[in-house]
Amino acid sequence: MELMGTNLAYATEALCKGQLVGIPTETVYGLAANALDARAVARIFEAKKRPAFDPLIVHVADMAEAQKYCSHLPDLAFRLAEKFSPGPLTYILPKNPLIPDLVSSGHPTVGIRIPYHPLTLALLRQLDFPLAAPSANPFGYVSPTTARHVLDQLGPSVAYVLDGGPCQVGLESTIIDLSGTEPRVLRLGGLSLELLEDAVGHQLAVQTSSSNPKAPGMLVKHYAPGVTLRWEDDLPAQVPVKTGLLRFSSPHPDFPANRQWILSPSGDLAEAASRLFAVLRDIDREQPDLVLVEHFPETGLGRAINDRLKRAVQSQ
Ligand code: TXA
Ligand code: MG
Repeated sequence: MELMGTNLAYATEALCKGQLVGIPTETVYGLAANALDARAVARIFEAKKRPAFDPLIVHVADMAEAQKYCSHLPDLAFRLAEKFSPGPLTYILPKNPLIPDLVSSGHPTVGIRIPYHPLTLALLRQLDFPLAAPSANPFGYVSPTTARHVLDQLGPSVAYVLDGGPCQVGLESTIIDLSGTEPRVLRLGGLSLELLEDAVGHQLAVQTSSSNPKAPGMLVKHYAPGVTLRWEDDLPAQVPVKTGLLRFSSPHPDFPANRQWILSPSGDLAEAASRLFAVLRDIDREQPDLVLVEHFPETGLGRAINDRLKRAVQSQ
């Protein structure tokens, strides 16, 4: 049996046996296990070398399914789901006892997401359990946006990777916490803050700092390739010969063109977002001595791109 392909029956069988399967979503690839089986979920933590204080997102096919695992669903969850689900938005909701504590890391809440990908939605519909799935990368490294990335990094841990092609959005889902009195954003991601605030009807508090105990996965160290990254406007007095640049739409005139990674020549933030993680991997492979990164426009998906770059820069 090939380790990667579009065989839903094979993926289903593996998941039913408590094994791990890589799944495509519109954001990034996930490393999935039966969310109701704590032993299967434990394998995710083991494979990723992920600390157990970092809770997992539970993926379901629709809101009716989500309702089975929450003690309460506020009206706002239904309103947002009508607009944005399936899609790149995760809801933090009060959980019920069906969700093992390992999934929620002991929190009274659970992250619920309905991913927008035909293969994964078909898989979720034919399973009689939801899928716990973090991004399918080793802890502290950039998220995978192709099936090949998953196999390259976690191959020995997965029974199979469902290959749904390259991820269209390319950044992890936006996380909104609906478990408190006021909604707040815990992670900037594939759904822009503007669209979310427009749907909610007012400005949202954004609490994505690395010390926020509500989203412990948002650690500074995340998204770091094994190369030194610095902001372009924080240029050191002397740059090494092998310096590369990561830019939005146009090359920097003072550097050689062959060392510049341009995410979207047409200036499209969605395109830039979809390419960011694959380009960080390319940079990691090339191993320049230093990479200077540009600040992206702080609007739409540019905000989430800046968030990821900031974490990559700060972690060094
Ligand atoms: O786009 C995505 O969300 C991808 C795909 C696979 O769905 N998944 C993903 O999972 O990015 P992961 O584990 O890499 O990031 C999940 C984030 C972590 O920062 C975690 O702390 C937060 O969600 N999270 C999960 N459950 C939570 C909860 N109950 N309360 C607060 N934060 C939670
Ligand atoms: Mg992750």
